[in-house]
Order: sequence, then C-alpha cells, then structure tokens
Amino acid sequence: MQTAIVTGASRGIGKAIALRLVELHYSLVLVGRDVQLLDQLKSEIEENGGKCLAIEADLSRENTPADIVKEAVSHFGQIDVLINNAGMSHSGPILETDMETWDRVHAINARAPFFLSKAAIPYLKESSNPVIINIASVVGFKGYIHQAAYASSKHALTGFTKVLAKEVQEEGIKVHLISPGGVNTEMVQEMRPDINTEELIQPHEVAEIVEFLVTRKGKGTIDHFYIRRQSGLAFD
Ligand SMILES: NC(=O)c1ccc[n+]([C@@H]2O[C@H](COP(=O)([O-])OP(=O)(O)OC[C@H]3O[C@@H](n4cnc5c(N)ncnc54)[C@H](OP(=O)(O)O)[C@@H]3O)[C@@H](O)[C@H]2O)c1
Repeated sequence: MQTAIVTGASRGIGKAIALRLVELHYSLVLVGRDVQLLDQLKSEIEENGGKCLAIEADLSRENTPADIVKEAVSHFGQIDVLINNAGMSHSGPILETDMETWDRVHAINARAPFFLSKAAIPYLKESSNPVIINIASVVGFKGYIHQAAYASSKHALTGFTKVLAKEVQEEGIKVHLISPGGVNTEMVQEMRPDINTEELIQPHEVAEIVEFLVTRKGKGTIDHFYIRRQSGLAFD
C-alpha cells in the first residue's frame, strides 16, 4: 500500500485531497495543529477501511518537517506522495505588516514545503510512483493589494517548486505545482468575504487534479496547473 503525506489535512483543500487519496487506496499521514479535526478525519477514514496516521504538528517550527517524515516512515515504512498543502494567509498593507507576521507566513508557506521535500526525497527515491505536489496560489505569480507577505511566500514556493522539479527529475520523482484562485474554504472566507461562495472553486476540484496527477502514466511532464475562478467577469 502506498503512503501519502498531506499537510493541512484538518480542513479545506487538504481534507478534500486526503479523502480522495484514501479512495485511491493510499495510507494517509494527516498533518495539522487541530487534533480534534484530525482525529475526526482519521476515524472517518478508518471506519471506511483506510489506514491513517494523524500527526499534530506546527509547521512554523524548524524541526517539524524532519520529525513528520521520521514519524511517517516509522509508522508506514515508506513515502510515495507528498502534498505540501498547509498554508497561512495574511491580509494587510505593507506598512502595517510586522516582521513576526512575515516570518511566520513564510515559515509555513515556503520554508516547511522546502524542508519537508528535502527530508522526504530519500524515501520518495525508493517509491515506484513518487510524486510531490505543492499547493501555491494565483498570488504565487500575480500580486494583489494587501497580500504582500502571503504573495511573496507563494512566489517563493513557486520558485522552489520549479527548481525541485528539475533537481529530482533524474530520480523519477514527479513534481507539480497547483495554483488555485479563490477556493471555498475558511481561508477565502477570511481573506475575501466580498466574494459570493457560489463563484468559488470547490475543494474537491483541486483534489480531482491531485488524483489525475498521482494516477497518470504519461511520458510528458506537467509542471503547473493554474485554476482560475469563473465568474461573470472571469476574475481569479
Ligand atoms: N482558499 C483559497 O482561496 C486558496 C487559494 C489559493 C491557494 N490556497 C492555498 O491552499 C492551501 C490550503 O488552504 P485552504 O483554503 O484549505 O485553507 P484553510 O481551510 O485555512 O486550511 C489551512 C490548512 O493549513 C493548516 N495549517 C495552517 N497553519 C499551519 C501550521 N502552522 N502548521 C500546520 N498546519 C497548518 C490548517 O490546519 P490546522 O489549523 O489544523 O493547523 C489547515 O488544515 C493553502 O496553502 C492556501 O494558501 C487557498
């Protein structure tokens, strides 16, 4: 049975991805800080016959990425898929953004995926179908007002992913970036309460792309999916 780590699995996009991977018969390593939500999802997965490990972890801490990989391997013995999904948003003008906030947003959105990937690569190299998927954002290549800390962290994640894809290509590890516009989760409700939820992308739509990427067998390489929100004016 192949094993997938999903960070930020307690809710939103990460939860939808975890549930989709269980349907594909992956053993799941769920990562997040909210133990209650993680345990609920773990029970749901196990009641449906899936295998699951819930790890309570704060990805803003330096040692967390290495600890997660160690725990995943000691429990399941292998890592085949890594989904770097956990993220923290921040909304505020540059002049009101302090260093502590900037550091925290970058630690969770950019540093943690870097060091989780680094720690997982030795195990992914042993897999028959190794895949890393990083969930960035439309602000990983665009700039929206009052999202400077968040956008710069997602630009960093986007840049890292481009390099990672090339550095591990020889090892057969496939690396993909998914950059969604507004998705119907708690995060967008905080950041963009002005958007009608009916106009948002649904979390399961991101999970469907993950399913496509982990199951496809083609020779060609897919670097990037950009999912744009559809509305009357076709904004992001
Ligand atoms: N929603 C959107 O419109 C949108 C658009 C583009 C990209 N994205 C990206 O998609 C990803 C998922 O976002 P979402 O919309 O599903 O947001 P969400 O509902 O707010 O979920 C965020 C997830 O990240 C986890 N997380 C946050 N800080 C963490 C930390 N310090 N340590 C460990 N886990 C942490 C949360 O778990 P705990 O609270 O349990 O720690 C939660 O499971 C993020 O990277 C986000 O930037 C979202």
